[in-house]
Amino acid sequence: MTLNELYDLTVNMLSAAGVEDSRFDTDCLFEDILDADKTALVLRRETEVPEPDADRLMLAAEKRCGGIPLQYILGKWEFFGRPFYVGEGVLIPRPDTEVLVEKVLEHFAAEGNTSPEICDLCSGSGCIAVTLKKELPKATVHAVELSSEAMPYLIKNVALNKADVKIIKGDITDGKLLENFSDPDDVGEFRKIDCIVSNPPYITDKEMTELSREVRREPEMALRGGADGLKFYRVISCLWREILKDGGLLAFEIGFEQGEAVRDILEKNGYENVSVCQDYAGRDRVVTGTKKG
Ligand SMILES: C[S@@+](CC[C@H](N)C(=O)[O-])C[C@H]1O[C@@H](n2cnc3c(N)ncnc32)[C@H](O)[C@@H]1O
Repeated sequence: MTLNELYDLTVNMLSAAGVEDSRFDTDCLFEDILDADKTALVLRRETEVPEPDADRLMLAAEKRCGGIPLQYILGKWEFFGRPFYVGEGVLIPRPDTEVLVEKVLEHFAAEGNTSPEICDLCSGSGCIAVTLKKELPKATVHAVELSSEAMPYLIKNVALNKADVKIIKGDITDGKLLENFSDPDDVGEFRKIDCIVSNPPYITDKEMTELSREVRREPEMALRGGADGLKFYRVISCLWREILKDGGLLAFEIGFEQGEAVRDILEKNGYENVSVCQDYAGRDRVVTGTKKG
């Protein structure tokens, strides 16, 4: 079969299986598996594809037709221009989360602080923690994650990007985790840090029943945020406030309908300058606030 014939076959297979952007997915699979980008598709269109290569491509296409996310098939995805390993057990980094990272970077640029101490809660693949460390090389960055399935990805992504991120495995709803931030000079007290950032699970129980087949392949633990989707915002705003310095930044990614509810949680828990920011599509996506002194 020629490269062109295989391309058309793949696009048709994916379209018939209900894959939304079948050409985009086919392009990605061709580039990854056959090393054939758009230029190669023009220059080599009549070239015969060796059978083992065509078989590997077809196997990947069948997986995609079965609802496995493209990113899991490729095994890697880009976030903020850097590569991250992904696969079953870890949430795929989303472009929306880049807005959260940008807001944190803007905050420290405005403060002129190039060496903040930052804690990324619910770190997953580590896309937030790794990006912040790479963008602010003098920062101290902690990444907290509970899932044993996500942890290997976090470890590999820290290594892949050569980012010196300190990994903590644990449940962010457990106050014992704060002991990682004990003040060595003051027994019983916590060291105060500059920023807590988090993209926690925020899908409501009702929304969990309406997810696309692709999102349903991602770990439930990365998605389910309690009956109203707000459980983690309450816990983090209240519990982790302890280790945030006065004026320190709390920055959350949110579901696009959660802006006012999360603003309310921050204001009730002693944060000021609370603002709700929008993503590239103009929807509420990030809430930030600073701890009142
Ligand atoms: C929405 S995902 C975000 C992952 C990553 N930060 C990102 O932006 O792509 C939420 C993450 O929180 C983790 N998680 C869920 N419950 C947790 C808990 N109680 N303690 C720590 N991490 C938790 C999940 O395993 C998942 O990796």
